[in-house]
Amino acid sequence: MIRYAIIGAGAVSDYHHVPGLRLDPRAELVAVCDPNESLLDQRGRDWDVSKVTTDFNAIASDPDVDAVVIATPNFTHKPIALACIEAGKHVMCEKPLGLSYEEAAEMARAAETAGVKHMTAFTYRFAPSMRCLHRLVHTGALGTVRHFRSQRFLDLPETSWGWRQYKKLAGAGDLYDMTIHRIDFAMDLLGPVQSVCGAVATFCPRDETKQGEPCDPSDVDDWSALIGRFTSGAVGVWEGSTVMKGHHNNGFGWEWAEVNGSEGSAVYRLTEPNTILFGKPGESLQTVPVPDDCLVIEGSPRDPSQGVPSTVFRYDLVYELTSAIIEDRPAIPGFDHGAAAQAVADAVLKSNETGQWVDVNVNT
Ligand SMILES: NC(=O)c1ccc[n+]([C@@H]2O[C@H](COP(=O)([O-])OP(=O)(O)OC[C@H]3O[C@@H](n4cnc5c(N)ncnc54)[C@H](O)[C@@H]3O)[C@@H](O)[C@H]2O)c1
Repeated sequence: MIRYAIIGAGAVSDYHHVPGLRLDPRAELVAVCDPNESLLDQRGRDWDVSKVTTDFNAIASDPDVDAVVIATPNFTHKPIALACIEAGKHVMCEKPLGLSYEEAAEMARAAETAGVKHMTAFTYRFAPSMRCLHRLVHTGALGTVRHFRSQRFLDLPETSWGWRQYKKLAGAGDLYDMTIHRIDFAMDLLGPVQSVCGAVATFCPRDETKQGEPCDPSDVDDWSALIGRFTSGAVGVWEGSTVMKGHHNNGFGWEWAEVNGSEGSAVYRLTEPNTILFGKPGESLQTVPVPDDCLVIEGSPRDPSQGVPSTVFRYDLVYELTSAIIEDRPAIPGFDHGAAAQAVADAVLKSNETGQWVDVNVNT
């Protein structure tokens, strides 16, 4: 049995990670950590966990914990991950891994040196349609892959985004929150990105809370975009924003990602994750169901016919980490993938500042 602690008992832990742990008979949630005492009490009851603490060091030093899920604000990822790694815990950490590529690379090096399993919570790699695109690309079904395109629009309120709207706590806005996932899955499909030309913009002051209280205005981006060249010679275009009106769609927003090759095109859509669009030369895109073995990751006991399709694939993340621990193999995506995506995101910020194309340097 792999004994897990959740560090950061907020939204994403409740939405993805705890339901994922509950599905897996090989895993057990044994402890929860959060400095918010009333939330901690509530999660202890709701998640049926008696060991609760406000101090992540108590989790790091707990001999009854094998693995941790770090789902805290971005500025805390590095110190928490390094403490847990040093104590020999296996670690899943939310994205972005750090406040910069340098932080992410340091975390990746520490995890490798300690010999613990490490995983970055790049959720959308686990979507059935993304798994299907991966297969099509890597079996050559699309021919030579030439082009990638991604759009991610959310219609979120323009009031304060809490810790997410400050550079010192979040690192960046939409770029680190949303576009970084799309940078990651593009590289999973097409290989490393060599250079980028990027831009960001801030549309909203966000100087009021939802309750109408004044707060410090946001200093991060609401929109991020890049064009990039992959080392393979393929090219890519990415765009994302959190304030695109009319794209609410029950909170799932609009998401489209496509790969265009010499023999065909394939499209992933978050809102239809159990199908892809597929088109051959001279044809129009058609809806095709993904193969059954793309619906869940190998071995997962999850029934893909249960629940909201755009939600339930997220439960497979923690299954992957548990499998990697039991099978003594790397978890995928690892911290190295988290750092690589952050190197591209940081090149976007540099390109925005300088107005130049920027080479991506990854030295983990
Ligand atoms: N992979 C995904 O699809 C996805 C989705 C949403 C959020 N996220 C990421 O997950 C992380 C958390 O996001 P969220 O939406 O759950 O945020 P949240 O604000 O809802 O929850 C964060 C929780 O961490 C707690 N916390 C703060 N400092 C802590 C510390 N030192 N030790 C322990 N707990 C601490 C807070 O009290 C809060 O309860 C962020 O890095 C975010 O980017 C990823």
